[in-house]
Amino acid sequence: MSESYSVLHPFSFMPNLKHKTEEDISKEFTYIKEGMGSWVFDKEGKNYFYATTAVPSVGLGNPRIINAMTNQFHKLSFSSTCGQMHELLQPLTKKLIELTDNQFSLAFYTNDGSGAVETAIKLTRQYFNELNQKEKSCFISLDGNYHGTTIASGSVTNMGIKEAFGVQIPGCFSAPFPNMLRPPIDGTEDEIVDFCLQQLINTIEKVGPEKTAAILVEPVQGVNGIIPANKRYLKEVEKIAKANNILLIADEVTTGLGRTGYWTASQYYGIEPDLLTISKGLTGGYFPMGVTFMTEKIENVLLKEGGIFLHGATQCGHPVGCAAALELISIIEEDNLLKNARDIGQYIKTRLKISLQDIPNVAEIRGLGMMISIELADKQTREPINFKDGEILSKKLKTQGILGNYFNSILLLYPPLNTSLLDADFVIDNVTKAFKNVFK
Ligand SMILES: Cc1ncc(COP(=O)(O)O)c(C=O)c1O
Repeated sequence: MSESYSVLHPFSFMPNLKHKTEEDISKEFTYIKEGMGSWVFDKEGKNYFYATTAVPSVGLGNPRIINAMTNQFHKLSFSSTCGQMHELLQPLTKKLIELTDNQFSLAFYTNDGSGAVETAIKLTRQYFNELNQKEKSCFISLDGNYHGTTIASGSVTNMGIKEAFGVQIPGCFSAPFPNMLRPPIDGTEDEIVDFCLQQLINTIEKVGPEKTAAILVEPVQGVNGIIPANKRYLKEVEKIAKANNILLIADEVTTGLGRTGYWTASQYYGIEPDLLTISKGLTGGYFPMGVTFMTEKIENVLLKEGGIFLHGATQCGHPVGCAAALELISIIEEDNLLKNARDIGQYIKTRLKISLQDIPNVAEIRGLGMMISIELADKQTREPINFKDGEILSKKLKTQGILGNYFNSILLLYPPLNTSLLDADFVIDNVTKAFKNVFK
């Protein structure tokens, strides 16, 4: 008798598993057997362009990264960073600080993106505690922000997820994000930005500036549909935070380390956050790892004459993860991949705008660098398209050899930073074929 399937998958609708085998589930989920470069292969050997997540920034199976990791595995396959150090920690940190324009003085390593945001939240709390401003413990994040799955990072996530888990950490508030396709008010882009800024100010006043510890921004909202923030909006948010002695946390778990065509999206937007998180692109999927950067202002309070941060995971700062990150950074630099991400990302967007222009339900094609999304909605009413059409489109994309992330009527595409022109053409042609097949 065949065994029933026993894995609970994250963020995946699970059928009743009682009568389902691994074989049954593999027909519903995508079973990925192998991967190389920008491509993955399923059990039947069908290949797909792998663009579901921002993680594989230089694709899969990269021999340079595998070699660097293998060498490190042989040399030192693990060491704690709790009262211990290893030879890659400082070089990686120095390099990352240099790449982020020397805005930060310290880095704290984590095992994932949620952990990096959790760390930023705790650093904020400790910062104000040390300053004897214990009541400054509230957080404001924007509608549609996704920050992670731990209780604190989940509490500042505003995507209808936290409700499943009951009471959250107290003191988390939200303010509208200037989503131009679904704006909180009717008006011009400038009017929408002004409205959102005023709402943020109102929220700070409601919470009390003396109680508001930090504002969290995702410069490009990822999970919510790859929505780049308006530049003026983010610059003004930075000013509002500074004027009210509120820390600014830039969550760059998705955008960080090249994804937008810049080392950080904060550089593109010209903002200087107090704390910045990076994860997915840090090792490009070769090792689970995240990092939280903090400025000297925070370091000086935290470690005045020495101090302790009572936080951390047993395996953070893993030497093999550091080896992967260092090699990945060298590849991005040597192969000029930031420029490639900007150019090819722009090329894909521009060509998709032309090839999909006659499809009535394509309401917006947007993104930054290698973060590209296509939002489907009725162009007049802006109602999302019906679920059935979405399901058919998802299947059709797979048939055409594209693995994207289709969610809430939005197709998210995260091509690797080193995507070639040839592969870009494959993506454009096959996304277009899938859309034309379903909507014409
Ligand atoms: C902006 C942002 N922050 C935090 C997270 C959480 O990262 P992880 O899934 O690695 O815990 C994500 C994940 O999608 C993210 O997009």
